[in-house]
Amino acid sequence: MLNVGVDVGQPAAILLNSNESVYGPSPHARMAARAAISSIERYLENPDRILVPAIAGHFGLNEDWITTGQGSDDLLARLARAYLGPGTELVRSANGYLKVPNYAHANDAKVVSVADDGFTPSVDRMIEALTDRVRLVYLANPENPAGTYLSGSEIRRLHAALPDNVLLVIDAAYEEYVDATDYEPTHKLVEEAENVVMCRTFSKIYGLAGARIGWMFGPPDVIDTVRRIALTFPVASPSAAAAVAALEDRAHTQFVYDANRTGRNWLTSEMQALGLSIVPSQANFLLIHFPDPDKSAKAVDRFLRQKGIAVRRLASEAYKDYIRITIGQPHELRAARDAIAEFLSGHP
Ligand SMILES: Cc1ncc(COP(=O)(O)O)c(C=O)c1O
Repeated sequence: MLNVGVDVGQPAAILLNSNESVYGPSPHARMAARAAISSIERYLENPDRILVPAIAGHFGLNEDWITTGQGSDDLLARLARAYLGPGTELVRSANGYLKVPNYAHANDAKVVSVADDGFTPSVDRMIEALTDRVRLVYLANPENPAGTYLSGSEIRRLHAALPDNVLLVIDAAYEEYVDATDYEPTHKLVEEAENVVMCRTFSKIYGLAGARIGWMFGPPDVIDTVRRIALTFPVASPSAAAAVAALEDRAHTQFVYDANRTGRNWLTSEMQALGLSIVPSQANFLLIHFPDPDKSAKAVDRFLRQKGIAVRRLASEAYKDYIRITIGQPHELRAARDAIAEFLSGHP
């Protein structure tokens, strides 16, 4: 039997490389997925009929403004397919979420990547990049891989500068982890505007990355457009069942939020105590700087891997001296901290 649980291409015992939930989903979500297997021979004709009322009820949103997909990446790809094409442009932050430019290129659109400020998207430069060819402005808030964020007022300043025919896509995959008091829940601007959409996911705080469920909140005409270009039967029935059960278990979500916040603060201060600088994070991961060529990001990545700890190195030049580490469980974070301390103390 294929065990996809170990099919991750690396032998590491501690996986802190993909920003999944280290606490997994609610036990009720696992049970709901198992129960749904009993009717797995059937198509799930219309996943939105199950998921949308659950999402709308949970977050207090209008059902007509929601659709779902195979992870939020499916929805981001569909937005690109619907709104981009030859002669159009996507504006994004240069060191932001790396997948979205691919979706723009796949639709023959031009990607305009604007410089950031210490990995925080620059509203000024995004505004400067606006042309009459721009159809989408995309940013993740908080960003991945940096964990930085824009305040509600900065997001609103960006939105105020956009012409009506430009859609602002805010990817709030990590919103559930935010504790910054000036962060504004993204749905508020979406509700007030006519050209803003928010993408969300069950892959992070709900611990269902393998289930592949995301959702989008936006004006009904955009929802309708994105829904029309979905695959037939886009969501697996066990995944839909798991997502609904995950939403219902508010205690589990609160537990994961608290544990992540505690772990993020702990790792931040531990890394600083080791003399390392970090990029302050609002997400479930932390970017750590290794500027010393004798103690490089590449070397620490290799050292951690030898210790059975997988973290993420990023391909782009801007991140070459960084590693990104998912906020693990306390014992995983202690193991990572101890290994990094050992690495710094002289082991190449
Ligand atoms: C900013 C951002 N958006 C979207 C995704 C994709 O999430 P999903 O699993 O819902 O496709 C990720 C995954 O890491 C992410 O970091």
